[in-house]
Amino acid sequence: MAPTHASIMWMDGSLLPWSEGTTHVMSHVLHYGSGVFEGIKCYHTPDGPAIFRLEDHMQRMADSADSYGMQVPYTVDELVNASVEVVKANKLESGYIRPIVFYGYDSLGVHPNNCPIRVAIACFDWGAYLGDEGITKGVRITVSPWKKFHWSSFPTTAKGSGQYLNSLLAVIEARKRGFDEALLLNSEGNIAEGSGQNLFIVKDGRLYTNNKEASILMGITRDTIIKLSEDLDIPLEITDLIPDQLLTADEAFFTGTATEVTPIRELDGHTIGDGKPGEITLWLRAVYLDIVQGKRPEYQHWLTYV
Ligand SMILES: Cc1ncc(COP(=O)(O)O)c(C=O)c1O
Repeated sequence: MAPTHASIMWMDGSLLPWSEGTTHVMSHVLHYGSGVFEGIKCYHTPDGPAIFRLEDHMQRMADSADSYGMQVPYTVDELVNASVEVVKANKLESGYIRPIVFYGYDSLGVHPNNCPIRVAIACFDWGAYLGDEGITKGVRITVSPWKKFHWSSFPTTAKGSGQYLNSLLAVIEARKRGFDEALLLNSEGNIAEGSGQNLFIVKDGRLYTNNKEASILMGITRDTIIKLSEDLDIPLEITDLIPDQLLTADEAFFTGTATEVTPIRELDGHTIGDGKPGEITLWLRAVYLDIVQGKRPEYQHWLTYV
């Protein structure tokens, strides 16, 4: 599960050895979490490595930076090209790409003043985030005692580095109690999301997921599943979800770039459906994996070939 980093990364406009991708310990980002980042996957396909929805990820990073008033010194297109360059330079066939925009060192006030905006893109060899067993058998999750922060406190649709302390607390607490993942409720008591995943429920053949008003990150995998549900004629409702709907669901699954489509088999000891990955979950998962691996010509526009 631990990712193996590649030997070359991209930083502030150039390719450089991994060991040179550094910043001073007094960098603003280390103290205040003042960065925005992305998690992107690159898959092996018959036509070589392909990065899934790269432009959408880079656009989300630009939007996240915008939410925090950070002026990124590169365009989305330049970041897309830089990502391709990094994967190519490392001869990576498949793996994970982590771009980050952050405030480096200049001063220590909370206001970033003249702290330089730095940009880095690294890539990794990385297998299943929730473990191979989690993907095939489903994961066991628990309602976290930590609530998801509300959109009135943070721009919840932004992927801000500091925002992840909330996820960190939740996932540490869940693992301590022997669960695979945490489910965070929002301040209204509705379902928000996992520490790094969006949630879908299946009930009576219909799909349900929540929306940005639930204080979630607007996942690109979530968006992919929403589009697939239209193409596959699976009815979908985007609405607030309460925990009881998960307890009484026929199926449930998490979505995320690293998580892909991962079935959920248990919530706090309560079996969901029959405790096995459900039919619709497995169908969507199979189509998703086909798409990212370049096996569905109609979705080629989501792939950037390296
Ligand atoms: C908090 C959170 N929610 C949802 C997601 C899923 O987003 P995506 O599908 O874009 O990876 C992630 C993963 O980045 C996340 O960190």
